[in-house]
Amino acid sequence: MRALAEVCHARGIPLMTDDAWGLDHAFCSRLPMSSLEAGADLTIGSVHKTLSGLCQTSVMSIQGDRIDSGRLQLAFELEQSTSASSVLLASIDAARREFQRDGERLLGHAIDLAAVLRERIEALPGLDLFRDDRAGEPGIHAMDPTHVSFDVTGLGLTGFSAADWLREHHGIHVELADHRRLMVLVTYADDEAGVARLLVALRELGGAHVDADCGDIPDVPRPQDLRMETVMLPREAFLGATELVPWREAPGRISAEMICPYPPGVPVVAPGERLTEAVVDYFQQLAAAGVMVEGAVDESLAHLRVVAR
Ligand SMILES: Cc1ncc(COP(=O)(O)O)c(C=O)c1O
Repeated sequence: MRALAEVCHARGIPLMTDDAWGLDHAFCSRLPMSSLEAGADLTIGSVHKTLSGLCQTSVMSIQGDRIDSGRLQLAFELEQSTSASSVLLASIDAARREFQRDGERLLGHAIDLAAVLRERIEALPGLDLFRDDRAGEPGIHAMDPTHVSFDVTGLGLTGFSAADWLREHHGIHVELADHRRLMVLVTYADDEAGVARLLVALRELGGAHVDADCGDIPDVPRPQDLRMETVMLPREAFLGATELVPWREAPGRISAEMICPYPPGVPVVAPGERLTEAVVDYFQQLAAAGVMVEGAVDESLAHLRVVAR
């Protein structure tokens, strides 16, 4: 991020970062460098994700003079509610105070606990831990040790089905699942008993799926294979006359909805783009794997909302 900041700043461009999961980095020396420290000019982070805020407590931070704070304020007020919630503001301030005072210890506890969990997961057959020695590989500068990710396909399961099984049989709700992996987040509020309970559940998960077959796990297509042509203004496509068509009939039609699988939470399609065979096939693979989808009228993706002919 420091290098990105240097490139941006050499050209007079501010660097803005999505710090949704990284707000805690500023409060503990054992976590990766925070983006503000690395030179970002504006960051947005979720206090409810890795600190102790109530849900919907996200904060925007700016530093330096590349961001015009007066203009930012104007833009912010375009979207802001006139009824600020004192509960949410107080929650942000309480979290800030708690971690400013005691972050090193609180987050250090989470890191120690996560290290125990990592070590035990490595010893479980069928689970392939995403190890922190991968830092330095292309695209990986540093690892946040509290995000414990592991591939479960060695058990013959997708991440989605493993997450469902853990919820159903052990009442354990993982932070994130995708077609291959689970990610459990160890926070300052977890304890040894919680980690032990998770390990029991993971051991049973393995035992219950000795001969499981997760079928073909779709490869995530390359971004260039998902590129589409924008043939209409998004506004016109979204607000104009639309119809729902079965997915088989969708290639060639203009999308009138945003379709955003989560994870990764990045829209694949925006209104106004002409759907291609490759994208529609990818959606069907996602739907078959049980991916959560945001933005689509029919979240099963059996029908797609397109511009009417
Ligand atoms: C990478 C990333 N950015 C942004 C967000 C949205 O943050 P918030 O929950 O504060 O709206 C999320 C939420 O999951 C996220 O994972």
